[in-house]
Amino acid sequence: MTQNLAVVGAQWGDEGKGKVVDILSQRFDCVARYQGGHNAGHTINVGNRRHVLHLIPSGIFQPRVKCVIGSGVVLDPLALIEETDAIERAMSIPVAGRLFVSNRCHLILPYHRVLEAAIEKQLGERRIGTTSRGIGPAYEDKMGRRGLRVCDLMDPQTLADKIRALVAEKNRTLEALKYPQIIDPEPLVDSYTQYGERIRSLVIDTSAYLNDLIRSGKSLLFEGAQGTLLDVDHGTFPFVTSSSAAAGGVSTGLGISPKHVHSVLGVSKAYTTRVGAGPFPTECAGAEGEQIRDRGNEFGSTTGRPRRCGWFDGPAARYATMVNAFDSIVVTKIDVLDTFAQVPFCVDYKYKGTALQHFPADAATLASVEPVYKILGGWQTSLAGVKEWSNLPPAAQDYLKFLSDYLGVPVSMVSTGPGRDETIHLENG
Ligand code: GDP
Ligand code: IMO
Ligand code: MG
Repeated sequence: MTQNLAVVGAQWGDEGKGKVVDILSQRFDCVARYQGGHNAGHTINVGNRRHVLHLIPSGIFQPRVKCVIGSGVVLDPLALIEETDAIERAMSIPVAGRLFVSNRCHLILPYHRVLEAAIEKQLGERRIGTTSRGIGPAYEDKMGRRGLRVCDLMDPQTLADKIRALVAEKNRTLEALKYPQIIDPEPLVDSYTQYGERIRSLVIDTSAYLNDLIRSGKSLLFEGAQGTLLDVDHGTFPFVTSSSAAAGGVSTGLGISPKHVHSVLGVSKAYTTRVGAGPFPTECAGAEGEQIRDRGNEFGSTTGRPRRCGWFDGPAARYATMVNAFDSIVVTKIDVLDTFAQVPFCVDYKYKGTALQHFPADAATLASVEPVYKILGGWQTSLAGVKEWSNLPPAAQDYLKFLSDYLGVPVSMVSTGPGRDETIHLENG
């Protein structure tokens, strides 16, 4: 039987999913994104070129692989056009015929970004620290049953009527927020009509397409953006994104039955990072955090913001393992820890002096837990580019074995650098 695989971030995003999906997609016929939008930034190194994808699935650099943007994704059509143009220039082959976009995707319009800026400003100290791409307000319009969809773009008259009605409503909201700007609908009608024409050849019923592939025995890889701890239901709410980043999102975001998700792979860094606000128990605010940021080049792929850095957060990763039932885990960026004499690994959270049994639901509790560390030995040898398990120093092997035992899942791949071949492939998982 053909095996379909979901690849999911096990932390707060930026775990290296892009590299992992790019490598694994060689074995699949199709890679499908099921949620998020151009808030994602997936970096892929092909030869000596570095590409950052935001919307297009990370299978696009394997010319044989078909790529799908499913209905669970919120789509900024201009971002899609710019990204397809950039890929066509880089690869010198068209994406048409290889990239398909759901006619049911909800659209991001410029007013979503304006509203997001107004809301973040109003939140002040309590702001989420979003990527400012309009993601949250676009998903609000989807759940509020008023959003525009890709199928609306395909019909210029309906599009114009709907944009005018929605803009009138958004202007009332902006006025209530005392925002010093109102939106003129007419330029939006013109530009979105043109975007519709530009992307028309990519638009299909992707649920029907994926179900056809499944029926004909093709294999699918489901690509998650963000990470489990940013999932709107299971993440560190309210410091989350507005979509279902965990494996549960695959089925609703693509219009396929959960029966077709056969295994789930978690991707985790050997340490932890987070961009934006919200609790982060193992964060190292001082010199060690800076050392991780410098060595790991931990700056956001989408916004360029410095990522907050800290030690591996076992309870958070164990929670992600439970929510997704990972079959195996890929550990990335182990080379970033090369210089440390000791590597602390958080094994427990203490809250008011007692070890917590469950990952806390509320951000205030998570913000006040005390991490309990097991101190593991460092290796102080360069792991950059190591391709064989047997070439890892014993301390690095012990670190990975400890992580695997702690989570109760095998490690199926270890990444030792950003390049495709800087990878250890293991039999597990
Ligand atoms: P994603 O959002 O999960 O796809 O991850 P990002 O692309 O945002 O961030 C991961 C970053 O780490 C990228 O710049 C990758 O090129 C880089 N990277 C991936 N794996 C490794 C690794 O094993 N070692 C090092 N040093 N860098 C890596
Ligand atoms: P990839 O796919 C890391 C974070 C933002 C913010 C919160 C909400 O590259 O792993 P949003 O704009 O989504 O409403 O912001 O989520 N965030 C990410 N952090 N990696 C990402 O994507 C992220 N996408 C959103 O920083 O804290
Ligand atoms: Mg990223």
